[in-house]
Amino acid sequence: MKPILAFDVYGTLVDPMGMAELLAPDAGEVAESVSSQWREKQLEFSFRKGLMRMYEDFGACTRQALRYAMASHGLELSAEREDELMGDYLSLPAFEDSLPALKSLEGHYRMYAFSNGTYPALKKVLGHNDLLVMFDGLVSVDDIKSFKPDPAVYAYARRATGAMDQPLCLVSSNAWDVIGARAAGLMAIWVQRDAGKVFEDWGIQPNAVVRSLSELPDTLAGL
Ligand code: LAC
Repeated sequence: MKPILAFDVYGTLVDPMGMAELLAPDAGEVAESVSSQWREKQLEFSFRKGLMRMYEDFGACTRQALRYAMASHGLELSAEREDELMGDYLSLPAFEDSLPALKSLEGHYRMYAFSNGTYPALKKVLGHNDLLVMFDGLVSVDDIKSFKPDPAVYAYARRATGAMDQPLCLVSSNAWDVIGARAAGLMAIWVQRDAGKVFEDWGIQPNAVVRSLSELPDTLAGL
């Protein structure tokens, strides 16, 4: 039976490392390092807030992580500049394969964006990249005030997408997201964007691995 598709957003459809360039005026040579620590801490903060049952939305995690990444590199950011960068985060660039892949799947699968991001943030970042119209709907963890990889979030995605008698298949470049989805009984495809990226060995495997979203039509047909 054809699965319903749930696309992770940050790292899968849009590139959080797109912030490195914008951080250049603030962080100079260490802009890449600030950008990757920003992303790591954003995720860590969401995991911890979820575990602590201390939900603050993903935007709060993003802002707090930006402050941390700058401070840990010994850098300062004015309140105005912080707001500006937070605004820029809403127009992160899409990966090149995102729109063509969604277009090739359109009409063949029911498709949702499924993310830790809030609805306003998802609408902005997906709309900015012409991706929003490709989806049948959005599912944000904000509805249940928890974060991936809480199993409750994946169960909620199933309800929210109407995937009760039909499999729901996550498409994500985040291995921890794939493991979370599989552990909660979803199908999941891992997008290994970088050949050097290792899938964590937890004894839980994705249903398929692709190197680019453009492989999805063939991969899904073969599942
Ligand atoms: C998301 C992040 C976690 O879009 O990648 O859910």
